[in-house]
Amino acid sequence: MKSSATRKAPGKPFELLLDQRVIHRRIEELGRQITTDYAGQIPVLIGVLKGCVIFMADLIREIKLPVELEFVSAASYRKGIRREEDVVVGGGIAIPLEGRHVLIVEGVVDSGRTVSMVLEKVRKMEPASVEVVTLLDKPGSHRTKLDVKYKGFSVGNEFVIGFGLDNTQQYRNLPFVGRLLDR
Ligand code: IMP
Ligand code: MG
Repeated sequence: MKSSATRKAPGKPFELLLDQRVIHRRIEELGRQITTDYAGQIPVLIGVLKGCVIFMADLIREIKLPVELEFVSAASYRKGIRREEDVVVGGGIAIPLEGRHVLIVEGVVDSGRTVSMVLEKVRKMEPASVEVVTLLDKPGSHRTKLDVKYKGFSVGNEFVIGFGLDNTQQYRNLPFVGRLLDR
């Protein structure tokens, strides 16, 4: 595959933040906690694409309960001259959520706007309960009041990549979480 070899982009420098074993152990703990908290229920997990994919795939295998899966996508747009950011939630939720126990699954919560928009959409469907589970949380960056019940790790105001998280769509397949040194 000559063309892909010649198109290989130089990587940006990053350093290891969370290694695979540390992440795996934490996901096992989250799975156990969710299994206990939702005993006797069939929770609906709603993944926020695309950052959720690796975390969600691992997490659901640590939840020893029947689960149902949905996905939404979220995109931020800068709107108008005030450069206000607006998050648009796409993707239909086919499973009726009324009376169901819902878990929104994210890769990273930063300002909290994305998760807030997904929460709003889900709450309109009258679930019995809704909670947020994220691999990474940046509590110092929240710009909206948000209760994140299940979090893998808290990180500072830094840009992280890997384990599903991207920088301009790349690095999602790194099996660990790194910190980008050069934004
Ligand atoms: P929020 O709406 O500001 O909470 O941002 C959430 C979204 O921004 C996530 O779903 C990611 O797509 C992206 N994001 C925020 N911080 C990072 C990061 O450090 N690395 C990669 N993506 C990030
Ligand atoms: Mg992104």
